[in-house]
Amino acid sequence: MAKRQSTVWVCQSCGAQSPKWSGQCPECGAWTSLVEERVSDAPPASAHRYATASAAGVARLYADVSVQSQARLSTGIGEFDRVLGGGLVPGSLVLLGGEPGIGKSTLLLQAAALMARTAGPVLYSSGEESEHQIKSRGERLSVGDAPLYLLAETCLERILEEVDRVRPALVVVDSIQTVFSLKFQSAPGNIGQVREAATQLLFMAKGRNIPTLLVGHVTKDGSLAGPKALEHVVDAVLYFEGERHHAHRVVRAVKNRFGAVNELGVFEMTAGGLRPVPNPSQLFLAERPVNAPGSAVLCTVEGSRPILVEVQALVSTSSYGTARRMASGIDQQRLSLLLAVLEKRAGLHLGGDDVFVNVAGGLTVDEPASDLGVLAAIASSVRNRPIAATTAMFGEVGLAGEVRGTAQAPLRVREAAQLGFRRLVLPDANLDGSDQAPAAGACELVGVRSVQEALEHLLA
Ligand code: TYD
Ligand code: MG
Repeated sequence: MAKRQSTVWVCQSCGAQSPKWSGQCPECGAWTSLVEERVSDAPPASAHRYATASAAGVARLYADVSVQSQARLSTGIGEFDRVLGGGLVPGSLVLLGGEPGIGKSTLLLQAAALMARTAGPVLYSSGEESEHQIKSRGERLSVGDAPLYLLAETCLERILEEVDRVRPALVVVDSIQTVFSLKFQSAPGNIGQVREAATQLLFMAKGRNIPTLLVGHVTKDGSLAGPKALEHVVDAVLYFEGERHHAHRVVRAVKNRFGAVNELGVFEMTAGGLRPVPNPSQLFLAERPVNAPGSAVLCTVEGSRPILVEVQALVSTSSYGTARRMASGIDQQRLSLLLAVLEKRAGLHLGGDDVFVNVAGGLTVDEPASDLGVLAAIASSVRNRPIAATTAMFGEVGLAGEVRGTAQAPLRVREAAQLGFRRLVLPDANLDGSDQAPAAGACELVGVRSVQEALEHLLA
């Protein structure tokens, strides 16, 4: 008779199980990610089902299902509501990830305090800090006398008991990695525990229609610690982007069942907590050097919001054998591609040069419409000619050196005109077609078809 196995090795990054240890996960290829876990006899969470108000388990005809307009709950913080797609949906489970010290606890405590005033009692459960620590932070954030319940607890079953007792309008769990269920014997933070805790909290949120916010830690490479599966369990995943060395913080939605992805919220960290920044373009352009070669302003659209940012490039002769290419805020692969286009289509020779590209302010732009700005900044540095401070640009660049039209051109033009830019270099394709033709006011629109044409206008 085969011996019953009581432990398995579980990959902490993808959740794959194998009967024996190996250095690399056979499923996802992660190194040294396998951890021994006990096989539990407890039924998996998926064996339960959530008791919703409707008769669960019975299929209903599409026509019989009434349309519920989901009244969203405002968190009281405009920028946070924006990332959520217009506020919290009742019963939704939202995960907020980010590096340690970036402001996750601060943002959620602020939202908790504000919602306690408007929506009713809020339960803030922390496995990281004691009630006193949370309170001393709250004093700086002027929480006041809102009905905010603090709980320093890591046991999932206890947290759920308190939810039953307090009947809150919002639950915050800081952080999901510290929560453990008594039904599982592995340590908190293990993939099984994290997944079980998230699933149980999902049932709680859906079953009782209580919106729930979870804090998630990220690993060194920036992904959420614990299972990737966590991202599939929750309704929305928000990330704090950038570094904690900047005063401002960007929160981005990477998944949202109830709103647009890539939606951004911009905050500034102050002595009194996170303060929303309603006009981020001004912030990102605030320290722009005037008439410095290698600096270009590009118009990107993040979610539904146009943002102007400065991109800087520095090209210098390489003193080592191999030239270095460093990108921060844009994709490294995209940079290589754009450099190849510059060499081949615009005749700039960069083979022996180091190229550094940086998006000012710690923002990440991964939209193809940012190509032209990046390219122009590099060319400006190579030729040592500045781009006029009142010129902005956008456009996707193709491998043949052509500048392609992009979506949401009118939005970008309006933002540039509003911020006082006098000239906007954009794809020619975005100028034709009457419905697309953007109204620019005092801003001159220069349509270009190729990289060469664009550089002639920009570096004249
Ligand atoms: P925190 O919310 O604890 O980060 P996380 O939960 O993501 O680990 O943020 C802590 C940082 O924010 C810390 O460096 C101090 C700073 N901070 C302020 O500058 N002002 C404030 O009012 C608060 C509460 C924190
Ligand atoms: Mg924290």
